[in-house]
Amino acid sequence: MKSLFYIFFIIISPMAFSQVEPNYDESKVPEFLVPDPLMAFDGTKIKDAKAWTEKRRPEVLAFFENEVFGKVPGELDAFSFEIIEEDANALDGIAHRKQIAVTLTKNKKTLQFNILLYTPSGKDNVPVFLGYNFHGNQTVTSDPKVKITKAWNMKNDNLGIVNHQATEKTRGGRAHRWDINGIIKAGFGLATIYYGEVDPDKNDLSDGLHRLFYKEGHQNPEANEWGSIAAWSFALSKAFDYLETDPNVDATKVVAFGHSRLGKAALWAGATDTRFAGVISNDSGCGGAALSKRKFGETVGRINNSFPHWFNTNFKKYNENEEALPVDQHQLLALVAPRPLYVASAEEDEWADPKGEFLSAHYATPVYHLFGKQGIESTEMPKVNTPIQNTVAYHIRTGVHDVTDYDWEQYIKWAKEFVE
Ligand code: GCU
Repeated sequence: MKSLFYIFFIIISPMAFSQVEPNYDESKVPEFLVPDPLMAFDGTKIKDAKAWTEKRRPEVLAFFENEVFGKVPGELDAFSFEIIEEDANALDGIAHRKQIAVTLTKNKKTLQFNILLYTPSGKDNVPVFLGYNFHGNQTVTSDPKVKITKAWNMKNDNLGIVNHQATEKTRGGRAHRWDINGIIKAGFGLATIYYGEVDPDKNDLSDGLHRLFYKEGHQNPEANEWGSIAAWSFALSKAFDYLETDPNVDATKVVAFGHSRLGKAALWAGATDTRFAGVISNDSGCGGAALSKRKFGETVGRINNSFPHWFNTNFKKYNENEEALPVDQHQLLALVAPRPLYVASAEEDEWADPKGEFLSAHYATPVYHLFGKQGIESTEMPKVNTPIQNTVAYHIRTGVHDVTDYDWEQYIKWAKEFVE
């Protein structure tokens, strides 16, 4: 009886039709018009940097705010920080480590998150990569002094998460994703934050940063208000507020970095906060760098079903309805212009649609041209492990969905040249 019902359900359910296997076949990518980044919604052609900055950029930003990531509902009442730990000779003497507790206050409620900052020992005013990590600052290095996060953590038995709490076993568990030695030796700093301290990554917006902004009795954002990605991006800006005060950091050279869902957050942070000197999107995929209208790998419907809390309620209108989107993700990338932007993919990461990420960087390029900058000029994808590095850069490396030393080598080389 149960299986009969199941068969019946599959046959009649419209959801069942929409939840067909993800498409990984290039010949099945639908034909679609790429929205012209230089055509305003009212049909005006955008001809120069001034028109872009004054007319087009604000309307595209407003669209992504209202219909995709969601608006931040107001201002904080207070922001403060405290350096809770520091060692000028960390990591065998090559790095200056600081751990900073940032406190955000609104409506008499507070949220605290911790920044782990390494800068090259004895150097002031260095460029910095700022990005979230997935399981706690203690996972990015085996440095025993890094504090273990106490915040709710995503299940991961192998890493050493027990009952949603990080244990000592997690220390260094994700060090392979953070080439800290390479970063420090190249003269850069690294600042990282555990994203779960800002908003736990679960389908519940009653907690985390959202909680601070609700009026009595409310525990859900309005349809146009922020989901989790916008909250993570907002807190990256707050981390920036701290970095601006730190003499070891050159605040004119802070690059937002992120992998996967955290790459989506880095892109949105770069779009909403022009103080970021550049953005690196590592395998950010759907809702990040990848074009939605290709419907290759993860789609808008799939991401909204699996992660309803990431985007705002309005974005659900585009589930299985990408045609209705008057923008595509190349316009999110274009919001970073004229600042340097790096989009990277991995060959085996088809779920994130490497080609869609590449084309998106290409279609964002006309906006960079308005500022006399070079981007991804050709529609021809480069071969694996052959980066194209202009103000807009792209590479596809061999391997799976991850961040590798190869990725960091490219980011460092590019940042040295383009993050002015
Ligand atoms: C899932 C999700 C992606 C996301 C990824 C990640 O695969 O579907 O959109 O980028 O998780 O964050 O690792």
